[in-house]
Amino acid sequence: MPGFELFDQREIDAVTDVIKRKMVHRYSFQETRNGIYRVEEFEKAVAEKFGAKHCLAVSSGSAALYVGFRGLGIGPGDEIITSPFTFIASVEAILECGAVPVLAEIDESLNLDPDSVEDLITERTKAIMPVHMFGAAADLDAFAEICEEYGLWLLEDSCQAMGATYHGRSVGTYGKWGPYSLDPYKLLTVGEGGLIVTNDDETYRRMEYYHDHGHIHNPAIPRGAEGKACLGFNFRMSEIQGAIGLVQLDKLDGAIASLRKNKKRVLDGVKFPEGVRLRDLPDSEGDIATQLVILLPDAESAKRFQKASGEAGCGCGILSGNTWHYARHWETLREGSYYSRIRCPYDCPYAEDVPLYRPVEWPRTQDILSRAAVFGMDIFMDDLKIASMQNAIRAGIKAL
Ligand SMILES: Cc1ncc(COP(=O)(O)O)c(C=O)c1O
Repeated sequence: MPGFELFDQREIDAVTDVIKRKMVHRYSFQETRNGIYRVEEFEKAVAEKFGAKHCLAVSSGSAALYVGFRGLGIGPGDEIITSPFTFIASVEAILECGAVPVLAEIDESLNLDPDSVEDLITERTKAIMPVHMFGAAADLDAFAEICEEYGLWLLEDSCQAMGATYHGRSVGTYGKWGPYSLDPYKLLTVGEGGLIVTNDDETYRRMEYYHDHGHIHNPAIPRGAEGKACLGFNFRMSEIQGAIGLVQLDKLDGAIASLRKNKKRVLDGVKFPEGVRLRDLPDSEGDIATQLVILLPDAESAKRFQKASGEAGCGCGILSGNTWHYARHWETLREGSYYSRIRCPYDCPYAEDVPLYRPVEWPRTQDILSRAAVFGMDIFMDDLKIASMQNAIRAGIKAL
C-alpha cells in the first residue's frame, strides 16, 4: 500500500507552508527565503536516517538511476549487468546512456542471482546492479565479492526498497550508490520524486552538478552568475515535494512496522506443505514486507493455487505474467524502439554483442516466476482482511 494513503493534515500543512511562502524552487531566492530549504532538509534527513554520507533528491527514481549512471560517466560501449525481473526503468536508464544492459538470471529470492553474473562479465562490463525487488535485499555480500574480484562497481537499484536493510545496513548504501523511488506506488511518496544515496564524495559532487545543468551551487553567488562544472540537465526536486517528503519520512518506520506485523500475522495462521515455501531471502529480517511471495512446486500447481485463492476471495498474481516487471514481456526493449535514427546501443559503433533480449533468454527466471504467487500487503489490515488472505492461501494450498 502506497504512502499517499497516509496523507493527512501534516502533508497539507507542509505544502501550504511552501505555497504561502511562495518558495517552490530548491535553489535561488537566497535573500527572501529566510534560510528555509525543504529539499535540502529532506536530503539531510534521509542521509542521516539511512547512514549515507550524501543524498541527492531528484525528480523520479528513474532520474536517480540515470543521474547515477551519468555521474559515473557510463556511456556507449559500457555494459551493466542487472536483473530481468525489475521495473523497465532500471534498463532504460542504462540505455539512455547509450550503454548495454546485460540481463542475467534471478534466484529464489527473486533478486539477481550472483551465480549467474560471472559468465557475463566482459572487458566492457563496468558495474553489476542487483535490484532489491519487492522491498527485500539481494545477496549483497556475494555481489561485493564478485565486484571486488573483477574491479567493477556494485550499484544497487533500491527504488522498491527504501527502509530495507541487509545485515543491519540500509540498502542503497552498500555499493557505490543506491536510488529510492518516491513515485505514487511507493511506501514513501511525494507524488513523483527520487533520491540517490552515496558514500562517495566525488560521485555525489558529479551527480549534484549533472542533475541541475552543471550548476556548482554556491549559495553566496546568485544563480544566474554561478559557474557550471559540466553539461547536465534538469532533474531537480521542488520544495513542494521536499516538504511532503519530510513528513512522509517521519511515517516510514510506522508503515514498515505495520507491514511486517501484518505479514507475520498472515503467516502465523497458515502452514506450508513440503515443496511450498516463502521466497528465499538472504536477510529476511531486513524485508520491509510490501509483498508476500510464495514459491509453489511448479507452474501448473501455481495456476491451480491462483484460481483457488481468487475463488476464496483474495486473489494473487503469478509473477511470470507480470508484464510490468519481467523483461520477457518488454517488446520495446527487444525491438529497440527509439524515435531517433541512430539507436545506440542497438546500432552503435562502440557496442558489441548487444543481447537480443528474447523471451527464451532467462530459463531459470521463467521457472521461478512461473511458480511464484504474490500477494500485496497493506499497512492497514483488520482481522477480517488477515483472515481472508489466510483463507485464500489455505484454499490455494488445498488445490495444489
Ligand atoms: C526497481 C525500480 N527501479 C526504478 C524505478 C523507477 O522509479 P520511478 O517510478 O520513481 O521513476 C522503479 C519504480 O517503480 C522500480 O521499481
